[in-house]
Amino acid sequence: MKEIIFATHNKHKLQEIQSILKDSFTVLGLEDMGYYEEIPETAQTLSENASLKSQCIYKHFSSNCFADDTGLEVAALGGKPGVYSARYAGEDCIAEHNMMKVLEELKGVDNRKARFVTIISLWLNGQEHLFEGSVSGSITHEKHGEKGFGYDPIFIPDGYEQSFAEMPAALKNATSHRALAVKKLAKFLVSH
Ligand code: IMP
Repeated sequence: MKEIIFATHNKHKLQEIQSILKDSFTVLGLEDMGYYEEIPETAQTLSENASLKSQCIYKHFSSNCFADDTGLEVAALGGKPGVYSARYAGEDCIAEHNMMKVLEELKGVDNRKARFVTIISLWLNGQEHLFEGSVSGSITHEKHGEKGFGYDPIFIPDGYEQSFAEMPAALKNATSHRALAVKKLAKFLVSH
């Protein structure tokens, strides 16, 4: 079976992708490779950040690999928090603070439109390929649900009445921005 490195320390993401690619690829996380450093995410866009991470690991191991980056883009906030989603309320902040900041900034705002976007950068045999998955929806007025992570309690995807944090995990994981990007990656990898 062919091997590919996923440039992440996040075990949850690794398992999700391993299960999607299990018939065609052995996917190794950074811990599996004995790589414990954090890769800086210093770029101004999601795709540049995904590229930074995949290039760093491609150079280090000279081996095919991919990396992802995700952001929540809120229309009334001009696309913020976007690339700053993980640290919107400040360095070392927790998800709760990020959500509260978005809800506070949207107080009294009628336009609640938002979308989650995931970009995956793949380095395969010396060439980069980018894959995007996105889900449109709206920001709630308060938190709903306990499941998921990050901004899930304040995001309702279009076509549903539950927030991502109220949905069964299997439904979120099959329909999410990340799932859509990963499915494109999987289709590409299987045919190359
Ligand atoms: P990352 O690029 O996957 O590390 O995501 C950056 C930030 O976006 C995370 O810290 C989360 O706050 C948020 N995020 C990423 N994916 C999701 C998701 O599926 N639901 C809710 N928040 C997410």
